[in-house]
Amino acid sequence: MRILGPGDIVGLVNSTYAADLFVAVVTEFDLFTRLAERESATARQLSELLEIDERAADVTLTYLVALGLLRRLPDGAVQPAEPATRYLKAGASVDLRHYAGSVSNRPGVREVVQVLRTGRPAPWEGEGGDWLDRMAENDFADTFSAAMNARGVYLSPALAEALGEIGRPDKILDIGGSSGVYACSLVEALPGTSAAVLDLPSVVDVSRESIAARGLSDRVDVIAGDMFGDLPPGFDLHLYSNVWHDWDPRAIAKLAAASFAALPPGGVLVDHDMHLDDTKSGPLRQAEFSVRMMLMTTGKCYSTPELAEILVPIGFEDVHLRPTTAGYSVVVARKPA
Ligand SMILES: C[S@@+](CC[C@H](N)C(=O)[O-])C[C@H]1O[C@@H](n2cnc3c(N)ncnc32)[C@H](O)[C@@H]1O
Repeated sequence: MRILGPGDIVGLVNSTYAADLFVAVVTEFDLFTRLAERESATARQLSELLEIDERAADVTLTYLVALGLLRRLPDGAVQPAEPATRYLKAGASVDLRHYAGSVSNRPGVREVVQVLRTGRPAPWEGEGGDWLDRMAENDFADTFSAAMNARGVYLSPALAEALGEIGRPDKILDIGGSSGVYACSLVEALPGTSAAVLDLPSVVDVSRESIAARGLSDRVDVIAGDMFGDLPPGFDLHLYSNVWHDWDPRAIAKLAAASFAALPPGGVLVDHDMHLDDTKSGPLRQAEFSVRMMLMTTGKCYSTPELAEILVPIGFEDVHLRPTTAGYSVVVARKPA
């Protein structure tokens, strides 16, 4: 892969965990040999076969399909593809499982094995609690928010462009909005629009400073709070940017239901993230990011059909995806008018 822009650099960072997952499933779980015992397997069947967490099994299958080591069947199950049966299975004449074994004791691989077995997120950077526990520490929250801000500087103009095409919101609620980088880009691109960033108390000082530095404190408000409580009324667009990948479907349903209750008729819900394709077969960068999210949080990357399954029963309609930039996209849904 050649680095052509910021998205490739972020993609490279995100991919660091994925190779560890590959080594873990080949060396610790002998996944391709075990899969060869069956005609095909779903994520649930893989989780039973290897005694691993089902969310982790689902993310693992998507990554291995994206790599070309598994093939996705029309019913959603998978089968080993040729490179896996030739080189990564017991009895192969060129058996590269042994080569993978030469890096299987790296701390990253051992951490992956632990997450696969328990389903619980790993400690952030190998120490202390997971990222969410650590967000209560102001120093950690500052460093984390600076990382989110750096990514947002290059992603947010494309998000603003996509939202401009969807319509002109009056007031945007940027839920889990971190430094406010997205809210600021949106109000800059959409004259007459104002916004508020809702985030944890440990984060909002950074949000206020960052919004003030852009001279937008009069148009972008900051609310310290818990997004899992009631959401404030008066906003006609709710933005969740890089938030849902931190959570499981039950938590996302809770957030979406709160948004549905708070949005006016015709209000818009936007999930800005890396999304998987509809069959959860890739693309590779998105599948690698999903591995990172699976290891670090209780979430993963979702496909549009997976999100529609959550949003439609709540009452949202017209759930669809629009690409933005660098492998990112928005899944947009509307509360009926
Ligand atoms: C992965 S970051 C995404 C930040 C930003 N929206 C972006 O796109 O870069 C997730 C954000 O959700 C916030 N968050 C997590 N739990 C929250 C809660 N219960 N209430 C409000 N914000 C929360 C975090 O503080 C963090 O800023």
